Amino acid sequence: MSQLFEEIAFVENPQYERIIEDILARQYSVVEDFFTDEEVLVLRQSLIEKHEEDAFKKAAIGNRVNEIIVKSIRGDVILWIDEMKANEAEMIFFNKINSLVSYLNKTCFLGILHKEFHYALYPEGTFYKRHIDTFQNDDRRKLSIVCYLNEAGWIQENGGELVLYLDENGKETEKVIYPFPGRLVVFESQVIEHEVKPVKTERMSITGWLKTR
Ligand code: OGA
Ligand code: MN
Repeated sequence: MSQLFEEIAFVENPQYERIIEDILARQYSVVEDFFTDEEVLVLRQSLIEKHEEDAFKKAAIGNRVNEIIVKSIRGDVILWIDEMKANEAEMIFFNKINSLVSYLNKTCFLGILHKEFHYALYPEGTFYKRHIDTFQNDDRRKLSIVCYLNEAGWIQENGGELVLYLDENGKETEKVIYPFPGRLVVFESQVIEHEVKPVKTERMSITGWLKTR
C-alpha cells in the first residue's frame, strides 16, 4: 500500500530542487554531503579493493603511441561499474543516483534513459587537462556527475581541484571545486569546459554521465 502511494504521490525534494535550480541558472551544481561519511567509506573501500585486484585500466588507451598522448592529457585510471553486478556499496550508490534521475525525469523532461559510471583514481602527480565531456558527433551525454571518495580531512594543499570554466556575460570565469568527500558535482556535459589540476595525494572518485540514448 505504501509503495503504491509512493508511485502516485509526488513529494518535492528540496535537495534535488536545488540541483535543478542551480543547473538552470548556471549549468552546474555542487552538493555537500550527497553521500554520508559511512557511504563514502564503503565506496572508497570498494574502489581500493578493485584497484588492488588490478581491475583498473589506464583511462582510454589504445596503443603505445596513443598512450603517451593520452598520458599528457589525463593520468587517471578507471574502472567502469556494472550496475547489474553491483556490490553492496555500489547498490547504495545507484539507489541514490537512480532516485535523482527519476526525479529529474519527472520534473525536467530531460529524458534520461541511460547512465554510465566509473571509478577513477588519480595517482600522485596526475591531472586531466581542460576538456569537455562530449565526443565529436556524440551528444548523448547530458549531465556529468562526479562524487568524491577521498578520506575525511582532505585539504586544499592536496591539489586535484576541479576547475569549471564558466561564461559570465561573455567573460570567462573559473569555479574551483575541491574534491571533498561526499561532495557531488553535477554539470551540463555539452557546455562546461573543465579540468582536474595536478593531484599531490591520490585522489578517488566516481564519475559518470546521464544520457538520453
Ligand atoms: C572526467 C572529469 C572531473 C573530476 O572524468 O571527465 O572531468 O573532478 N572528472 O574528477
Ligand atoms: Mn570531464
